[in-house]
Order: sequence, then C-alpha cells, then structure tokens
Amino acid sequence: MTQVSARQVCAFPVSTWKAFALVGVGLLAAVIQPASAAPAPIVAVAGATGRTGQLVVAQLLAAHWKVRALVRDTAKAESTLGKGVELRVADVRDQQALTAALKGVTYVISTIGASGGMKSAPGDGPQEVDFQGVRNLALAAKADGVKQFVLVSSTGTGHADTYPSTFMRPFLQAKAQGEAALRASGVPYTIVRPGGLNGQVVGASLTFAQGDTSSGTISRADVATVCIAALGDPGALGKTFEIFDGDSGAATGWKARFAALAPDAPTPSSP
Ligand SMILES: NC(=O)c1ccc[n+]([C@@H]2O[C@H](COP(=O)([O-])OP(=O)(O)OC[C@H]3O[C@@H](n4cnc5c(N)ncnc54)[C@H](OP(=O)(O)O)[C@@H]3O)[C@@H](O)[C@H]2O)c1
Repeated sequence: MTQVSARQVCAFPVSTWKAFALVGVGLLAAVIQPASAAPAPIVAVAGATGRTGQLVVAQLLAAHWKVRALVRDTAKAESTLGKGVELRVADVRDQQALTAALKGVTYVISTIGASGGMKSAPGDGPQEVDFQGVRNLALAAKADGVKQFVLVSSTGTGHADTYPSTFMRPFLQAKAQGEAALRASGVPYTIVRPGGLNGQVVGASLTFAQGDTSSGTISRADVATVCIAALGDPGALGKTFEIFDGDSGAATGWKARFAALAPDAPTPSSP
C-alpha cells in the first residue's frame, strides 16, 4: 500500500488545498443531488379536512412529501391541518376549480365522500360527490397528466345493487359509478376499498382481498398508510382491492403485497 507522508501532503500550497476542497464539495453535491434538479412531486389530497384525509395529509408531511390540500373551508383546514399546508379551495362539483387546483400535481389521493355519509346536504349527496365528484377529479387529473390517482372507495361497492342495506345502496352505487369513471378516465389509478372505518391506532396487521366478498373493519390511519404506500408503485396501478384489519401479515412489505394483487379487467376509456 502506498503511504502518504505528512510532508508529501503538505507539499501543496494552501490555495491548492482550498481548490481541492471546493472541487470535493462540488463533487459531493453532484452525487447527492439529481443531475436535473426536478421539482419535488406534489401530492394533492381531496377531502383533506375529512377524518381520513387529515391522516393522509399528516402522514404525507411526516414522510416529507410535498402536499396540496384540496378543501372547501380554509378556516376548517387551518384548524385541522395546521398552518403551512398548501391549500386550494375546490368543491368537487366545480370542474373549473378542480382543473386549477390540480395544476402541476403528480399524484392525487381522494378520500372524499358525501358529507357524513348519512346526512348529506341536498345537492351534496352521493351522486354529486362519490360519483360526479370523483369523475370530475379524474377528468381534471387526466387533463393535467397526473401519474397516479389513489381513490378511497368502500367495500360493498362491488355488489352495490344487491347490498343488503337498502339505506346504504345509493351510497355504494354512487361509489361504483365513481370507480368506473376513474377506470374509464385513462388516469393511472389504484382503488382502495376499506372495510368499516374506525379511529383505532395505526399499524395493525392488514388483510388485502379482492372480489369484494369479505367484510371487516380497519383504522383510518391504516387506510392512509396504504394509500401513501401505493404512490409511485407500478405494482399498485390498475388494481382494485379491499383492506381490513387482519392477521395475514404485518403492515409492511407493500411492494410484494401490491404486486400479488390481480389487475382489473380492461375498461373502455372515455373519449
Ligand atoms: N365510514 C365508514 O365506515 C366507511 C367505510 C368504507 C369507506 N368509507 C369511505 O371512506 C372515505 C373516507 O371516509 P371518512 O370517514 O374519512 O370521510 P369524512 O370524514 O366524512 O370526509 C369526507 C370528506 O369529503 C369532503 N367532501 C364532501 N363533499 C365534498 C364536496 N362537494 N367537495 C369537496 N369535498 C367534499 C368533506 O369535506 P369537508 O371537510 O369540507 O366537509 C370531507 O373532507 C369516504 O369516501 C367514505 O365514504 C367510509
């Protein structure tokens, strides 16, 4: 091995060392930063002030994603999300507002649902929100070249027309229409159908299922985690699946779990 003595090291004048040091810093910077300093991808969260939406925003921020919260009420947004989150006011019934709100966005996560589920205001019910609202979001996402749209839908959507609760049927039917509109939009998508939502702690083991034949519950925090885990994963694209608390594996290993899911049957794209 070649030994370098202190004398040899010191043979260069200080100015030369400074130059070496600067080159070194430059090289390090070149290694750390991507050659083309592309702007960080923005994740738009629709329904950001909802119970699941707030958790999506919080988890995204904790993981250092750049977040844009789509909200209806900025005062509610500031009190639930805190200050410092980029906000865009957009009702999902307003196509123009959505088109503006999604400008420059790479990913969309939608947790919207007709207000309070059961107590929707007139004109803000499942048809307007869970169907047309999702379709409006999907069209705006398509127009802006969004790379992935993750939709929080619901179990029961796969057999909405025969769902045992006639009260829930219109909600699930609208969600089924919303899912279909997203599939037809041409935007790369992932559809997550959670079981009954609760506010329990994050990190329970999860069961993934397909075909909408199972039922169960899941925490909203776990739903948020799954939505975020799907971002940018090609194995999650074009897939619809159910998630529940369960015992068939820890809440990790997302790539393998998404890859194991069957893709949806091809749907004709909307014009
Ligand atoms: N509850 C369950 O057991 C269950 C089970 C499976 C699936 N899901 C579905 O999971 C999703 C998340 O549930 P969650 O309990 O977190 O819902 P949530 O708390 O009721 O939040 C719904 C969000 O949708 C927004 N929204 C409603 N109408 C809108 C409109 N016209 N324009 C823009 N935003 C609108 C609300 O905005 P504001 O904050 O401004 O009101 C709210 O942020 C929903 O799609 C829900 O149907 C629920």
